[in-house]
Amino acid sequence: MSTPGIPKEFWNARFSEQGYAYGDRASRLLLGFRDLLKPGQRALVPACGEGRDAVFLAECGLEVTAVDMSAAGLAKTAELAATRGVSLTCIEADLSEWHWPEAEYDCIAAMFLHVPTAFRPVLHGKMLSACKPGGHVFLEGFLPEQIDWQKSHNSGGPNTPDKLFAPDDIRADFAGAESVSFLTGTETLSEGLYHNGPAALLRAVFRKPE
Ligand SMILES: C[S@@+](CC[C@H](N)C(=O)[O-])C[C@H]1O[C@@H](n2cnc3c(N)ncnc32)[C@H](O)[C@@H]1O
Repeated sequence: MSTPGIPKEFWNARFSEQGYAYGDRASRLLLGFRDLLKPGQRALVPACGEGRDAVFLAECGLEVTAVDMSAAGLAKTAELAATRGVSLTCIEADLSEWHWPEAEYDCIAAMFLHVPTAFRPVLHGKMLSACKPGGHVFLEGFLPEQIDWQKSHNSGGPNTPDKLFAPDDIRADFAGAESVSFLTGTETLSEGLYHNGPAALLRAVFRKPE
């Protein structure tokens, strides 16, 4: 059963625009925790969009699988990888239907993947299951307060509170993991056309226990 979220046609249209909707630089979360990324590790990037994080991980020497339901996003991901001279595997799939591997990845980088409340804990549970013991899940998203910033800035995120990240919900989703970092606050984003300006963000890194 597919998720009643934003349809893939929306993302295909957005990623068919010129340039990179969220920029081509990796998320600040991954850049900040680069020391946890080791060449040869396996990485999964669910909802890779146009590939900024997937390509960065490949540049760090990781073996990357990038999944998204948008064919246009995956085409841009493959193009960015080719431009930067790295290779990765792209899979077109709806993550609510995809057969998630078990304990396969050292690193899972899920940035700005906002889904309806009913599916969110399931999705986060699948991320943790797909992680190897000792592996990390990197998670970035918008807090409910982002609704206020959307009134004055083009800094992104869904405009329905049920898809935004309430900190206690995210803590509960990852209760089975160790919290390496868990930060919330306001930061001015500068990521392409659609993440621009002050934004209410949650950034977290969880480690699956050995
Ligand atoms: C806001 S964009 C973020 C893209 C990328 N992570 C980034 O930060 O640049 C959200 C992405 O999630 C993808 N997405 C949303 N729901 C999905 C689902 N159920 N299955 C696969 N991809 C999904 C969209 O296609 C889109 O690429």
